[in-house]
Amino acid sequence: MSIKKISKDQPETFEFNEKSLEIAKKVVSNYPEGKQQSAVMALLYIAQRQNNNWIPLSAMKYIAKFLDMPYIKVYEVATFYTMYNLTPVGEYFFQVCTTTPCMLRGAYKLVDVCKNKISEYESNISKDGKMSWMEVECLGACVNAPMMQINDHYYEDLDEKQLEKIIENIEKNKKIDPGSYKGRKSSEPENNRSTLMESKNA
Ligand code: FES
Repeated sequence: MSIKKISKDQPETFEFNEKSLEIAKKVVSNYPEGKQQSAVMALLYIAQRQNNNWIPLSAMKYIAKFLDMPYIKVYEVATFYTMYNLTPVGEYFFQVCTTTPCMLRGAYKLVDVCKNKISEYESNISKDGKMSWMEVECLGACVNAPMMQINDHYYEDLDEKQLEKIIENIEKNKKIDPGSYKGRKSSEPENNRSTLMESKNA
């Protein structure tokens, strides 16, 4: 289960920078006159990208004014969906899927690695300020379980040792490679099987 927390430390103000403003205006223009509030999810996402991957309350208020809608409605959307972070996250944000297929394939062993190597409690940032982690529901890559999302990319077919190596590489400022850690291409079968008939246990 993922935990939603609103940060106690909140910036007083928020406004879109030039780039975000340009994207936001373009998104809003996609909706018919009078239906601009439908852009609320996209605008929250733009705010999150601009603000180091989390959304302060001041950004929700800003978006409410931007879309001419009640602040509480923006707040309701932001607090409902888990993809919005309402508290600061690390520069590398680990979202560990612990829904059933990933759980059966060892997701909680990955959670233990996160607890030991990043921070004891989810959503707390590591001592070096680089990483934080959170349990999330299914990320739609069950066939490559267990998996996690780190920032914008998926890391799949993981085990504890591989995750420890990923964390070590981040600590050493080395590049980390997304994709399958069993060498699979996307979700192709393991061991070069091309049909279910090629295995007795299929
Ligand atoms: S259960 Fe983990 S990606 Fe679907």
